[in-house]
Amino acid sequence: MNIEVERLNATDVDDLIELEHACFEYHWSRDQFLLGLERGAFIILGTRTDGVLSGYIAISIIKDEMEILNLAVRSEFRKHGLATALLKHAFTICKESGVAKGFLDVKVSNAPAIELYQKFGYKQIGVRKKYYPDTKEDALLFRVDFV
Ligand SMILES: CC(C)(COP(=O)(O)OP(=O)(O)OC[C@H]1O[C@@H](n2cnc3c(N)ncnc32)[C@H](O)[C@@H]1OP(=O)(O)O)[C@@H](O)C(=O)NCCC(=O)NCCS
Repeated sequence: MNIEVERLNATDVDDLIELEHACFEYHWSRDQFLLGLERGAFIILGTRTDGVLSGYIAISIIKDEMEILNLAVRSEFRKHGLATALLKHAFTICKESGVAKGFLDVKVSNAPAIELYQKFGYKQIGVRKKYYPDTKEDALLFRVDFV
């Protein structure tokens, strides 16, 4: 399957909010999306399937560090390589921008995401106890080096 990844902007916020609500209990608000996009605080990439926003990744790049802020694929479109395509595109942006390393945190129970990130070379470097406000779960802190 040929997966097209596109850069999203403020006109995609309604679609992003719908996707967030479909994927997460604790989700970003319209203002969080708009502030981040309009101020250039983060980059959001998305995939569309049959005209529907099927997945997105939000990253921030500060100096030579990239952080994955969020990544989600609609449940009906999972296991078709969409998250892989989004991550590959984000990694290409990082390499072209001279980013040296990437960080992220992930819930300790999130086996699909952990497996995905490990495939991209992320390695665990720490644990943040009871990090998440919704479930009080521990966060695993992961790092990858681009150079
Ligand atoms: C994690 C998530 C983004 C993966 O999206 P996806 O499009 O299904 O992922 P892909 O199809 O690109 O899968 C790539 C690899 O990830 C891993 N993976 C994906 N889903 C998995 C699952 N249910 N169980 C185990 N590993 C899984 C596998 O290694 C997979 O490779 P494979 O297909 O060769 O087995 C998706 O499950 C999701 O949106 N989950 C809810 C939101 C979330 O947890 N986001 C991450 C926040 S840190």
